[in-house]
Amino acid sequence: MAYENEPNIKVINHPLLKHKISIMRKKETGTNEFRKLVEEIAILEAYEALSDLPTEDVEIETPLEVSMQPMLKGKKLAIIPILRAGLGMVSGFLSLVPSAKVGHIGMYRNEETHEPVPYYCKLPGSIDERTIVVVDPMLATGGSACDAIAQIKKQGGKNIKFVCIIAAPEGVSKLHEAHPDVQIYIGSLDRELNDKAYILPGLGDAGDRIFGTL
Ligand code: PRP
Ligand code: URA
Repeated sequence: MAYENEPNIKVINHPLLKHKISIMRKKETGTNEFRKLVEEIAILEAYEALSDLPTEDVEIETPLEVSMQPMLKGKKLAIIPILRAGLGMVSGFLSLVPSAKVGHIGMYRNEETHEPVPYYCKLPGSIDERTIVVVDPMLATGGSACDAIAQIKKQGGKNIKFVCIIAAPEGVSKLHEAHPDVQIYIGSLDRELNDKAYILPGLGDAGDRIFGTL
């Protein structure tokens, strides 16, 4: 698939983002630094992924005069991490949009089949009226993201973005085919999956590296 021609698939190109992802990948990067990098990368990705949020002009008063100025419009954003690793990206998004609501979707991959196993779902109210940003550092087979987004749509979610740090081409294709309306933001598009459905070159198991459960 030629992603350059797909308006809903965006690989973010920024030297700071690329640099930080390279440090994350290193096997000697420890939990503390890894966690900080996930947060910083989430801020850089949030800046890009939220660049089309609607605004409306409202009246404000500066020390010099009354003026109409743009402010964010509509219901608050919903940030929805896929547990566990997605949790690491939430603080980055909240540092830019502190009033966002946060939902959670719990899902882990069966080690043999690599199929996602859902175990938790709690979304903010009025989900149908919100811009929803699903966050997960890794898009591998795409199974977890596809299922999480299907759960959100089932509860009424419509305007959905998916933000990951590293993606495999297999996962991007699967997610885009299953949910072509979802805007996908990617920090780095890697080469392929190995026979255990890990991303190559990747960074290993993101959840284990964030939470120190290696
Ligand atoms: C990882 C990752 C994604 C999923 C991606 O979670 O955080 O959720 O794998 O793989 P997929 O695209 O093939 O579905 P994992 O299942 O390891 O759970 P964890 O975050 O709880 O460790
Ligand atoms: N989940 C991860 O954490 N890493 C991978 O490479 C694939 C899935």
